Amino acid sequence: MKIENKITELPELIYNKKDPGFGVVQVPVMLSYDINQIEPTPKVMVIHETKNLSLSPFTSSLHYGQSIFEGLKVYRVNNEQVAVYRLRDHIKRFNQSAKIMCMPQIDEEVLYQACIKYIETVKSYVPQENKHSLYLRPVMFASDDAIKVKISDNYKFLILGSIVGDYFAGREDKRTKILASKKYARAFKGGTGEAKTAANYAISLPALRFANQQGYQQVIYLDAETREYIEELGGMNFFWVEDNVLCTPILSGQILHGITRKSILEIAEILNIPTDIRLIKLEELKRKTKSGDIKEIFASGTAAVMTPIDELGLLNDDESIEKLEYSEFPIMEKIREYLFATQAGNTEYSKTTLTYI
Ligand SMILES: Cc1ncc(COP(=O)(O)O)c(C=O)c1O
Repeated sequence: MKIENKITELPELIYNKKDPGFGVVQVPVMLSYDINQIEPTPKVMVIHETKNLSLSPFTSSLHYGQSIFEGLKVYRVNNEQVAVYRLRDHIKRFNQSAKIMCMPQIDEEVLYQACIKYIETVKSYVPQENKHSLYLRPVMFASDDAIKVKISDNYKFLILGSIVGDYFAGREDKRTKILASKKYARAFKGGTGEAKTAANYAISLPALRFANQQGYQQVIYLDAETREYIEELGGMNFFWVEDNVLCTPILSGQILHGITRKSILEIAEILNIPTDIRLIKLEELKRKTKSGDIKEIFASGTAAVMTPIDELGLLNDDESIEKLEYSEFPIMEKIREYLFATQAGNTEYSKTTLTYI
């Protein structure tokens, strides 16, 4: 497999360096190739200037959503070097999503080389600003030119880049308010909850709209079957701290295997913070918050890293909302500080999680 690099001089990238926002600053370089079910490893991949795609309006993924993606970050560690966080984990999850969505498996080494070569090419764009980063978006979608529901034979694979800052814009303290509602569900047994696929995000939009209308930024989903057990947010995993034990729901088959979640659990071990991975009912969370046994709740994900939740709204059947409030996050902050230091290349744990370029 060959990677052809058509970039001879990097185009200039102009944006607000103080506040790039999230997902809007587009890196003017991309990697692309076409594959199919019979030949999932391409002979040549091309790195070229970012340009619009030319697609038939009949392209099947536009209609039926057979599409997967990843999101990972590249941080600047010093003037000469950048580092990508848990690249191998993201590659494995990409192929896991592909498997669930009946898409071809791409050789891990090919994906690894594609990401590394892309990062090498755009390295000078990786921001110097604290906590800003280059967000990589590998994406693969069905490109058969036919409007019939079926597993596509052909696919497009792209790596895109975006310079990103804060995910939750607007609040100085970077905390968030989330809404729990039995009315909406995101994933269910036998569905696609474990894949990073377009459908899971599309299905979350009605709930998100409703939550936003009530003044909440995100939704926390309960299991679709009983609507009692807490699963995850629309784009983040969930944690709570109970009697100084860090807890998170088990990966039930409907939840995305979060890479930040995995890091947090590993860091807790390094910092001697006890952990428990178990199911929790919303009712139990409510009761223990009121009794003071649960004092911290927070969410994790590559985009926002770790976000304290200072208000959990519980939507009742009569549409009234009961509020649970949280104000101090000492355990979350301790872990977050270690995670930030790791991503900046400054801890022992950096050695096993960062790939330097
Ligand atoms: C549904 C969902 N859950 C959890 C996460 C967090 O996963 P990670 O920490 O790997 O970014 C994400 C983001 O990727 C997500 O989209």
